[in-house]
Amino acid sequence: MKQTYFIATMGCQMNEYDSEYLGRLLQEASYLAAESPERADLVLINTCAVREKAEQKAFSFLGRMLSIKKRRPAMVLGIMGCVAQKQGKSLLEKYPGLDLVLGTRELGRFRDILEELRTGTSRVAATELARDPAPALLTKGFFQGKVTGSITIMEGCNNFCSYCVVPYVRGREVSRSPREIIREARYLVTEGAKEITLLGQNVNSYMHRENNARFTDLLRALQEVEGLHRIRFTTSHPKDLSPELILAFADLNKLCSHIHLPFQAGSDRVLEAMNRGYNRETYIDLVGKLRTVRQDMAVTSDVMVGFPGETRGDFELTLELIRRIEFDGLYSFKYSDREGTRAARFGEKIPETEKLARLSELQELQKRITLKKNKEMIGKEELVLVEGRSRKGNQLSGRTSNNKIVNFNYDKKYIGFFVKVIISDARANSLCGTKAEPAG
Ligand code: 5AD
Ligand code: SF4
Repeated sequence: MKQTYFIATMGCQMNEYDSEYLGRLLQEASYLAAESPERADLVLINTCAVREKAEQKAFSFLGRMLSIKKRRPAMVLGIMGCVAQKQGKSLLEKYPGLDLVLGTRELGRFRDILEELRTGTSRVAATELARDPAPALLTKGFFQGKVTGSITIMEGCNNFCSYCVVPYVRGREVSRSPREIIREARYLVTEGAKEITLLGQNVNSYMHRENNARFTDLLRALQEVEGLHRIRFTTSHPKDLSPELILAFADLNKLCSHIHLPFQAGSDRVLEAMNRGYNRETYIDLVGKLRTVRQDMAVTSDVMVGFPGETRGDFELTLELIRRIEFDGLYSFKYSDREGTRAARFGEKIPETEKLARLSELQELQKRITLKKNKEMIGKEELVLVEGRSRKGNQLSGRTSNNKIVNFNYDKKYIGFFVKVIISDARANSLCGTKAEPAG
């Protein structure tokens, strides 16, 4: 009987990419995907450590798996992602039921590690950061029927925002070679992808010694990949958003009209304490420029409330910036201390109740704006890449260039294709379309 595996993925899209990568390696090694962790032979927990709540989620899942393992000692249990990288070998000491701690840059060695685990004699902690990025996996047939793919183009971060644990956990920035990236893009396209999202903690500071490649060089090379229709990227940093990148939005028709550009706070004093490297005016100016080169540009962002020392006045400035920009969507978080970061040592911590109150005030405001922005789409004809069935299953679902989800009635044979639809209605999280017809 074949062995089975289950990977639980928490956190960001980079974790999703890594989970998919390991899933493919496991399938190559003759493992089958299990529906649930309860009966799987190998369980991997891919964790996030960016916020306290994410880390708690990882440990509570680990607790559940450890109790399953008590009943089924043959199960191999591993932890990966940021929590694994951060706590390393100490996790093996703390949890005798744990067999593997796999760091964020050790994926390239997973085949060997799997062999070691299979012999069943040793437990493994692999958390070296000084590794080359894992090679692209280009196995035929694995992509199966999907329309959108992603490629990690860089790892790590050099920015040291004062609240953020990422540079400590994932290490300094390392970019993958442009040749590898283009090869992976071509592979995804031959497997059926029409859209590719480039991933990294800070994609716009991408740089590689091969031809001195910068992020915009990569975008221009991808524009030339035949069969690729759409390019997206996430996440970018306002301080590294170059004039060349703004120009790329003007020049490259495959680049989608959406940018995720975290602003974090609206007060210059707080931005300074966060070590973000830009101020409110610069941010507003950047968004203005982007909207000038692309009128349909959607802007989404990350924001935090309750940073140490954040006054009511600072918070008002955040609300005001939200009103001024009118983001298409916003991920909002309560600040939480992360061990080892500078902000964790800052005084003037904001009480939890106040953070909660600010968060819900902010979210109320954004909810109204998101709906307003969605409503602005009504009446427009949009090109939608159909990704599959809608969540309720009775319609088709896809996204516009500016990343809005559209649900509409149409023949399912158009899954994987572009169709033109007229936007007829707007909801909080999606749009409704009518009059669908094939594009081109
Ligand atoms: N507390 C709360 N939110 C945080 N983020 C990063 N670090 C913290 C922290 N210590 C948020 C930022 C970032 C997003 C991925 O997570 O908004 O952009
Ligand atoms: Fe963290 Fe700042 Fe780097 Fe983003 S840019 S990963 S918030 S240190």
